[in-house]
Amino acid sequence: MTTPKTQQSDVAFDMVVVGGTGDLALRKLLPALYTLDNYGRISKSGRIIAVARWSGDRQAYLRSFGERARQHIAPGELSDEAWSRFAERLHYLEMSAIDPGAYGELAALLAGHEDRVRIFYLATSPALYGDVCRAIAAAGLVTETSRIVLEKPIGHDLASAQEVNAAVGAVFAETQIYRIDHYLGKETVQNLMALRFGNALFEPMWCAQHIDHVQITVAESLGVEGRGEYYDTTGALRDMVQNHLLQLLCLTAMEPPARLDQHAIRQEKIKVLQALRPITHREVTTNTVSGQYRAGAIRDQPVIGYVDEPEVAADSTTETFVALKADIDNWRWAGTPFYLRTGKRMGHPVSEIVLQFRRVPHLLFQDLGEALQPNRLIFRLQPDECIKLMLMAKAPGSGILLRREFLNLSLTDRPGERSLAAYERLLLDVIRGITTLFMHRDEVEAAWAWIEPILDGWSNRHVRPRLYGAGTWGPTESVALIVKDDRQWYEHVV
Ligand code: BG6
Repeated sequence: MTTPKTQQSDVAFDMVVVGGTGDLALRKLLPALYTLDNYGRISKSGRIIAVARWSGDRQAYLRSFGERARQHIAPGELSDEAWSRFAERLHYLEMSAIDPGAYGELAALLAGHEDRVRIFYLATSPALYGDVCRAIAAAGLVTETSRIVLEKPIGHDLASAQEVNAAVGAVFAETQIYRIDHYLGKETVQNLMALRFGNALFEPMWCAQHIDHVQITVAESLGVEGRGEYYDTTGALRDMVQNHLLQLLCLTAMEPPARLDQHAIRQEKIKVLQALRPITHREVTTNTVSGQYRAGAIRDQPVIGYVDEPEVAADSTTETFVALKADIDNWRWAGTPFYLRTGKRMGHPVSEIVLQFRRVPHLLFQDLGEALQPNRLIFRLQPDECIKLMLMAKAPGSGILLRREFLNLSLTDRPGERSLAAYERLLLDVIRGITTLFMHRDEVEAAWAWIEPILDGWSNRHVRPRLYGAGTWGPTESVALIVKDDRQWYEHVV
């Protein structure tokens, strides 16, 4: 298999993973780094230094947490030999990352390697970002080539996001800060830009005149997966909408950037966020729906309700589902709403962006086959990655009977190709110093500025999440949200 230049790096690096025993490190980061290593995409000299407060040495870490990370590597990609090679890069240090006095061993390990790209990956609670950055600085570990990677959510509202950004910004320049939104690393999301700006076909139709509305759905069948403590103080609006769904909205709605570089793309995304019409406190009851799953079944297996999950308060009112209608007040999108929804423990794990075109102006084929449906362009991110264009076509046979057909562009790998998974791509970009797929501080703050009134509105109006059965498409109120506009959620999972 040949690896394109953009998908590998010879850059020598040291990556310090703060929160090295946490869920993110074990589920996403170590498996992604292993895979990059396995395909020879990162420099052989690169080191990964997991740090956490767990007491144990490197061998014990590998036995315990290394084993757990291995379980998240696709079986076809895992071999003992490749894992042992990878494990040689992996170090573990027991330390408190917020205590500048605890950095001695790490400093010793990094000493003499100042010429390497030094990456601090904060896979820890966002509440600690400021303290960790101050401690890194106080320990004298910030070099010219240092970079810091921050996981979302950055803050829990606008003020706290500004505070985090200011604290991190006091230590690192904006060009050194990589705010991750792993949805931007997904293959289909990248293809959204390729399709829009690499083809002359779609862009003229990409506006309110031709598009009736847009739906963005991120439905998960997973529950909170042992993250009850984090999730119960976060909820779906902060965990998913503020970042992943708004990023998808931005890429769908933004104007064509002049260049494919970080400044141009970020500028266009910020303009979209600033054009989002604020949802007033009064409108939260008409334009948003929150939900919480109760016990039900996923693929015929019974699952418990949200309030029975470990570390979740028995009387929790945290939302595990959100649906909302967003309007973009600009020339391109006036009159074309964006409907967003996301939820945990839904029946079908599917993530997709659906652009529904306007209906044909004259019904020539009335009563001739399936009801004439408007064209839809579907970007599916998960479970399979593909782009589909739904068209009406003639059914074979005599006479004209119409039926629905799909033009299907599958994005699964061709023989000899292997595309990068989201974290693989983003980690590689951090090592290579490419910031295009990371969020600027202004983007994060603009997103919070739009989300915050919804949170305030819910609290102000005492909005409680509506219960929905695990394994369904969410509360019935979310159907009403779109049906009252004479539209329907697209739920055609094949
Ligand atoms: C994370 C959220 O950012 O994204 C999780 O914190 C969620 O709650 C996850 O499950 C979904 O990511 P993906 O790539 O599995 O769709």
